[in-house]
Amino acid sequence: MQRETVKEFRNKRHEALSYIQEQTDHRPDYLIILGTGLGHLADKIEVKDAISYADIPHFPVSTVESHAGQLLFGKLSGKNVVAMQGRFHYYEGYSMQQIAFPVRVIKALSAEMLIVSNACGGMNTNYQRGDIMLIKDHINMLGDNPLIGPNDEELGPRFPDMSEPYTESLQNLAEEVALKNEIKMHKGVYLALSGPTMETKAEYRFLRMIGADVVGMSTVPEVISAVHMGMDVLGISVITDECFPDALEPIDIEKVLKAAGMAEPKMSKVIMGVLEQL
Ligand code: HPA
Repeated sequence: MQRETVKEFRNKRHEALSYIQEQTDHRPDYLIILGTGLGHLADKIEVKDAISYADIPHFPVSTVESHAGQLLFGKLSGKNVVAMQGRFHYYEGYSMQQIAFPVRVIKALSAEMLIVSNACGGMNTNYQRGDIMLIKDHINMLGDNPLIGPNDEELGPRFPDMSEPYTESLQNLAEEVALKNEIKMHKGVYLALSGPTMETKAEYRFLRMIGADVVGMSTVPEVISAVHMGMDVLGISVITDECFPDALEPIDIEKVLKAAGMAEPKMSKVIMGVLEQL
């Protein structure tokens, strides 16, 4: 595989950045990535500018129908945010570099913090469909990493520290907000696999055994690239299906989306509450 040079990749980011800077004078402090079925938080944003992914040079375009595919610039809880409505998954065929690309461009624009959400399968038997979970750590089993290839020292170090990918002070704040609003929120470990197949029973057993509470097909690439650049990260998962190997039911995507819709208000409340206090 022919890898892009640091310079080529920098030029691409620069072209995307220049285009965004021409389209909006909004300079968000926070980047919010909305997961499958979790796009409604976008409705709470006082949107000032919207830019379609398809119009931004070198931006990947989302292929999953439930994702809208645009950047929304505006105010949420009085803070300057940009939301990615629609995200990119490894199983769609994007490279890790492509998935990291928007995060890198938005950081170059102005954002210093990433708030990331996802739909996932709960393997911890204390978790129920429709619950939310604060991500305290992750396990990368995608079999790939967005930082593979020549390192751009302008972005971050060759060997980024991963001892605290999810900023502890933000976790504490999110827990305070959940408590104050009487929202039940678990705290656990998110494990990422490439998908698009759901897991076998044997795989769920294995993943649970190695310390994961939930499993999904996203988030980790974006978080790794954010941590590489020194961004703070807050991650929240929505449990859309119960992955208990001894009582496993076939996955029903309609049910997954319904559960995401059900849990979304809780997640939104936590994110908005955190933003309010920042
Ligand atoms: N596995 C992987 N990804 C998922 C799941 C799951 O069970 N549910 C929602 N996303």
